[in-house]
Amino acid sequence: MDKITVAEARRVEAVGRQVRLRGWVRTRRDSKGGFSFIELNDGSCQGNVQVVAPGELGNYETEVKHLHTGASVVIDGEVKASPAKGQATEVLASRVERVGDADAESYPLQKKGHTFEFLRTIAHLRPRTNTFGAIARLRNQVSKSIHDFFQEQGFLYVHTPIVTASDCEGGGALFRVTTIDPDSPPKVDGKVDYTKDFFHKPAYLTVSGQLQVEAFACSMGKVYTFGPTFRAENSNTPRHLAEFWMVEPEMAFFDLTDDMDLAEAFLKRIIRDALTHCAEDMKFFAERVDKEVFARLENVLNNPFRRVPYTEAVDILLKAGKTWEFPVAWGNDLQSEHERYLTEQHFKCPVILYDYPRTLKPFYMRVNDDGKTVRAMDVLVPGVGEIIGGSQREERLDILEERMREQGLHPEGYAWYLDLRRYGTVPHAGFGLGLERTILFLSGMANIRDVIPFPRTPGSAEF
Ligand code: 4AD
Ligand code: MG
Repeated sequence: MDKITVAEARRVEAVGRQVRLRGWVRTRRDSKGGFSFIELNDGSCQGNVQVVAPGELGNYETEVKHLHTGASVVIDGEVKASPAKGQATEVLASRVERVGDADAESYPLQKKGHTFEFLRTIAHLRPRTNTFGAIARLRNQVSKSIHDFFQEQGFLYVHTPIVTASDCEGGGALFRVTTIDPDSPPKVDGKVDYTKDFFHKPAYLTVSGQLQVEAFACSMGKVYTFGPTFRAENSNTPRHLAEFWMVEPEMAFFDLTDDMDLAEAFLKRIIRDALTHCAEDMKFFAERVDKEVFARLENVLNNPFRRVPYTEAVDILLKAGKTWEFPVAWGNDLQSEHERYLTEQHFKCPVILYDYPRTLKPFYMRVNDDGKTVRAMDVLVPGVGEIIGGSQREERLDILEERMREQGLHPEGYAWYLDLRRYGTVPHAGFGLGLERTILFLSGMANIRDVIPFPRTPGSAEF
């Protein structure tokens, strides 16, 4: 007897095998003929396998007929070709063991059709639903594609720290990491004395692994980091999390064009892999979540991304004849409404905007010869807006120091980072792809809280 998954049991090749399945009951239906149908799921795939439990089973009357939705079971039996429509196989049980019951009165997933808002309140149980099972499998596939893509191209995976003293993005949206007692902090001159703190200086959760991964790019060539990042911005939007996962490749001797080429190939690879390896889940998204999902992904796969300077994008938006919630002017940041207009209505394809005003972007981006813009690029996709942010980095020491001062940062605090320009500096570039924005884009889900297992947002760190 082989222990196999529901995914394996659903394949026609399994017919004739004696197997053991372990999982959770989605539904039980008792037939007038004195036997029961159990729809079993174990998370290995979207579909259930139908188990036929005959009335002859010793515990049929006492247990099988009382199996509730959500109960865990072990089932032994033979895989048979199924006479029913829509399934290749079913399992004729020779033994059904109830492992853990789920009370029919109180089990929150007793009925189908809960709203995503409600399911957020039971985030520990929602992976048992079709949608969240599909999301979990898709996240897994995208994570695998990220490693496959970079490993195949000779990139080195670098583990950058979670705790850091540097504010990479300069936005100041940092979570402080401290062991100081908030009720009686050590003080000097009326202010908290962080030299007495655990790290002997202020420390934070990282907003990005970029600065540290640059150190490895500037010694090992092509590298990437992939891990959780944290932003304490108070953005209650369907596209922002306080804790999200980001993959950040960084390449020595790459300029902005090389960076864009890599970003485009990378995103297309992720899409192709999802369509190939998550076909059943992608079909589910297309049927239940977003009818446009396949058309949108095919469009992205089959078209080159449009590369448009920021200045040209501003002209397009000014001429769009629209009233915007946030005013459009050269030097203003583009908001989601502008990004989505460009990619969904104007160009109708992914757009890479580049050469943004220097005032809008962090200190580390390379200043262009015009002195006004920097070698930044944002990749915008239909349905989501910004999915990637990147740049060519400023490799010239004097200009980098000037940019830090311009943005109110003290170069002394970034001495180690400046050393990378002091000793053997090289042109280099990189970008960051948000994992959750990618899952939104692939699945058509509307809210970023529903594409991460346990979302952290302002006012919410349950579970
Ligand atoms: O544009 P961002 O802020 O770029 C960086 O952090 C650079 N250091 C990356 C680099 O060049 N190595 O963030 C990159 C991406 C965004 O395009 C978006 O997909 C995602 O990270 N992102 C968020 N996702 C969810 N919630 C948030 N609050 C996010 N902020 C950024
Ligand atoms: Mg950005």
